[in-house]
Amino acid sequence: MELTPLNPPNVPITHHHLLDLNAWTADEIHTVFNTADEMAQILQRRVRKAPALQGFTVCSLFFENSTRTSMSFERAAKALSADVLSFRAKSSSLSKGESLKDTLRTIEAYQADLYIVRHRASGVPYQLTRWTDACIVNAGDGRRAHPTQALLDAFTFRNTFPNFDGFAGKKLTIVGDLMHSRVARSNIRLWSKLGAEVTLCGPRSLCPASLADTPNVSLTHNLAEAVEGAHAVMAVRIQHERMQNSLFPSLAEYQARYQVTPEIMKQAHPDALVMHPGPMNRDVEISGALADCERSVIEQQVANGVPVRMAVLYTLLVGGRQKAAM
Ligand code: CP
Repeated sequence: MELTPLNPPNVPITHHHLLDLNAWTADEIHTVFNTADEMAQILQRRVRKAPALQGFTVCSLFFENSTRTSMSFERAAKALSADVLSFRAKSSSLSKGESLKDTLRTIEAYQADLYIVRHRASGVPYQLTRWTDACIVNAGDGRRAHPTQALLDAFTFRNTFPNFDGFAGKKLTIVGDLMHSRVARSNIRLWSKLGAEVTLCGPRSLCPASLADTPNVSLTHNLAEAVEGAHAVMAVRIQHERMQNSLFPSLAEYQARYQVTPEIMKQAHPDALVMHPGPMNRDVEISGALADCERSVIEQQVANGVPVRMAVLYTLLVGGRQKAAM
């Protein structure tokens, strides 16, 4: 068997959009990570800025609330000297009846090169690719995909261990409301593509068996079994806002069976990381004490959103143009 080198040399990336990770190869993902390493160095300089995207305009289109994704994309674009436009649905003319298509047509007049799109409906970023020639980055669509979150989660795992020797042979356990989680779907896709084993866990009503319908992915409803030997345990949020009715008998029962706690982490690998993409329901899907403990990398995940999103913006805007000019 031919082994993939840990940090394969950078490959040219010609994608015009980042809608999900389906069409991105493992080598392209490693290239994004390598680029994010370089971006992280820019953020360590005295002047934490580079001119790489000078002359480009980046526009964020958020039709659903966000703290981490919206702020880190803005920080990333500004750190690379792009001009930044921000559209917020709640304060826009959508409330006066303007359609999504007319909204985009209006914003197109401001000459954005790239749109960052979050929407509660799955597929909206795809739809926008039909109405504009600009690059589209999916910042979360419904329960379908949140590719930059998965990239920053895997990047955080890769960069936390000083002697990291690759994703092959590593086990990621994801626990919680997986049915409604675009973060879980993107992480399943990404980590399995990089060669890791992914174990999914949660109540039957929140963990459809179809999620484990991928090589390297398994599903159990027993938390201790799921966490056994894991190198990272990621809790994901109970998404009450996406449920029509409660899908488990009581919060107390959920906490008793599925909350990720210091006690349950004793089943994991001794160096296992505690992860959460945020926002957290403290003491629901994860105990507050565990979220704040030494093995928690939740704050690093937030911080790594900036260099990873810088890498994505740079790759789509500049990488693609260099390729086209060749
Ligand atoms: N993880 C994540 O997408 O957080 P926000 O909703 O705050 O952007």
